[in-house]
Amino acid sequence: MSDDAVSRYRQVYRRSLDEPESFWLEAADGIDWVSRPTRALDDSNPPFYRWYPDGELNVCFNALDRHVAAGRGGQPALHYDSPVTGIRRTYSYDELLARVARFAGALSSLGVEKGDTVVVYLPMVPEAVITMLACARLGAVHSVVFGGFAPAELAARIDDAKPKVVVSASCGVEPTRVVEYKPMLDAALGRSAHKPESVIVLQREQCPAAVGERDTDWEEMTWDEVDADAEPADCVTVAATDPLYVLYTSGTTGRPKGVVRDSGGYAVALAWSMGNLYDVHPGETMFTASDVGWVVGHSYIVYGPLLAGAATVLYEGKPVGTPDAGAYWRVVDDYGVVALFTAPTAFRAIKKEDSAAELVGRYDLSSLRALFLAGERLDPDTYQWATDALGVPVIDHWWQTETGWPIAINPKGIGLMPLKPGSPTVAAPGFDVRVLDDRGDELQAGQEGAICVRLPLPPGTLPTLWNDDERYVSGYLSTYPGHYLTGDGGHVDDDGYLFVMGRTDDVLNVAGHRLSTGSLEAALAGHPAVAECAVIGVADDLKGQVPRALVVLKAGVDAATDGELIRAELVARVREEVGPVAALRRVDVVSALPKTRSGKILRRTMRELADGGSPTVPATIEDAGVLDALAPVLRDGGGAVSPG
Ligand code: COA
Ligand code: AMP
Repeated sequence: MSDDAVSRYRQVYRRSLDEPESFWLEAADGIDWVSRPTRALDDSNPPFYRWYPDGELNVCFNALDRHVAAGRGGQPALHYDSPVTGIRRTYSYDELLARVARFAGALSSLGVEKGDTVVVYLPMVPEAVITMLACARLGAVHSVVFGGFAPAELAARIDDAKPKVVVSASCGVEPTRVVEYKPMLDAALGRSAHKPESVIVLQREQCPAAVGERDTDWEEMTWDEVDADAEPADCVTVAATDPLYVLYTSGTTGRPKGVVRDSGGYAVALAWSMGNLYDVHPGETMFTASDVGWVVGHSYIVYGPLLAGAATVLYEGKPVGTPDAGAYWRVVDDYGVVALFTAPTAFRAIKKEDSAAELVGRYDLSSLRALFLAGERLDPDTYQWATDALGVPVIDHWWQTETGWPIAINPKGIGLMPLKPGSPTVAAPGFDVRVLDDRGDELQAGQEGAICVRLPLPPGTLPTLWNDDERYVSGYLSTYPGHYLTGDGGHVDDDGYLFVMGRTDDVLNVAGHRLSTGSLEAALAGHPAVAECAVIGVADDLKGQVPRALVVLKAGVDAATDGELIRAELVARVREEVGPVAALRRVDVVSALPKTRSGKILRRTMRELADGGSPTVPATIEDAGVLDALAPVLRDGGGAVSPG
């Protein structure tokens, strides 16, 4: 930690913004190209920017084949560690390449070609990584859907992505139960308008599924049936600007946004970030404890470590209870992990179980050089606890599904800058971060505003939304022309450190999982007794935020007699319609919701009240009495539900 690091960072950062062309062409050397790009940025069609317009490559080749060709075939690529099933298995680069090439051949035999989409609904098993890379090998576009989402959410993604093939499993294994995926997939395909041509199901011994026994419009087969005798497929060359994947994320409405990731820009940005930001190098091991269904999993379980020639850990378990709060330390010890990456909520769970960090002492953590945390705000208590427990730098960093890699971080590979609790440190090279006021004017240090990034965004970030340029522009680029709107608010201090305080919109963040208020509200509104509802995210000690629902019942429904039952049904509906990750536990039946005169529900004001604040009530409020009546209910943070 030194002034040296600060000046090194400043130099790199300035160059990335002042000379983006040479900076990103130089970074492109970290990747093997079929046609090396002669240009970095295509800015001929603002606000749409494309990186490496004349480059051609294959991302799977860069993640696997080139390391084998360079003599790293025997080196570990993937450590699958599954405390929930008791299985552990390490795949060398040779082995992973063979499995990926074969499964790419299997997909190809089902007609999957460059540009086709494949939806992946799999738990944390090696086949998830194999499917993603097999798609990349064929130039097909994968869209991974998180296993904790319910059929309706899966169906919405299938309808938008229109996959030729869906790859799933018979079940996922959670610590306390086996989750049957196949019935959820069947239900999703029953609801979706789009039907795939084929469905591949990985049979797991914990709960094999009936496959191909029903009469369906699509062909169903098991993974083994299609994979066993498949001919290995070669890499298909794609344009750098061709899509590698679509990953759906939550906005404020119930309709998920299909974030598009291109091939060349993403490969360059991730390879660059591995050394320069995470300080992880070829042959070393990174352990990202997340899920392949989230962006963190895409970038730093799968693509980042493999593009860098490092090894990655695919961990099918939890931070606690599988079997105890020492699970992460055991993994670090077993695989010589140099960088651990997870969400603060995981550390809060560990701290709750083992507050004195006694389990840390049972393991050899000498390989560990840093802990990276992201996905939600890192609260100072958790920061301090992790620092004391592990004795390595605890690096908070801020990013989003849309950006694919960190917008703000302490760039350890360039040099570790002084840490400030509560801040993800500084803007990552390539990201021109500005804090703006309502009119779009830049704010001074210390002043709170909307955190934006001046266009163009660097390589690796979203070029658009899947088949929806218009929504991309209206959702992200039109509020402040020339800027990308992150949706987070915060400020920069006198040293240029960024402080991210939370979403300025109604997006929920539950245990580091991003969820849409709109989806939860749609599930509640579907109940026949509900006239109106609102969902807000309120502060929670473990999960950072949990959803809380306020519902107004239809005239004639008797809250006194039926309220309890309705509340239970509403909790169940959200679980069934959105998924268990939504974790809605509390529903209050109220007589009215506070709104502006134009009918907008004042969710933010209610959230601030629920979190114990004293919000400024908007002058446009329709009836201040409604909010006054609700205030005691909102401020009551206990588990009890209020009477209607
Ligand atoms: N498939 C099916 N169900 C899943 C699932 C999956 N892939 N992942 C989670 N669920 C279910 C869980 O079983 C749980 O169901 P339950 O209500 O029946 O218990 C529910 O969804 C909520 O899961 P989760 O958010 O994991 O909460 P939890 O209370 O089980 O555990 C933590 C809390 C903090 C331990 C957990 O959130 C965690 O491990 N977080 C790590 C951080 C992380 O992965 N962040 C992602 C972004 S980086
Ligand atoms: P996701 O797209 O699921 O990765 O969620 C992105 C959102 O999570 C951001 O817009 C932030 O609101 C929040 N987030 C992620 N990382 C951080 C962080 N380090 N500090 C504060 N908020 C964060």
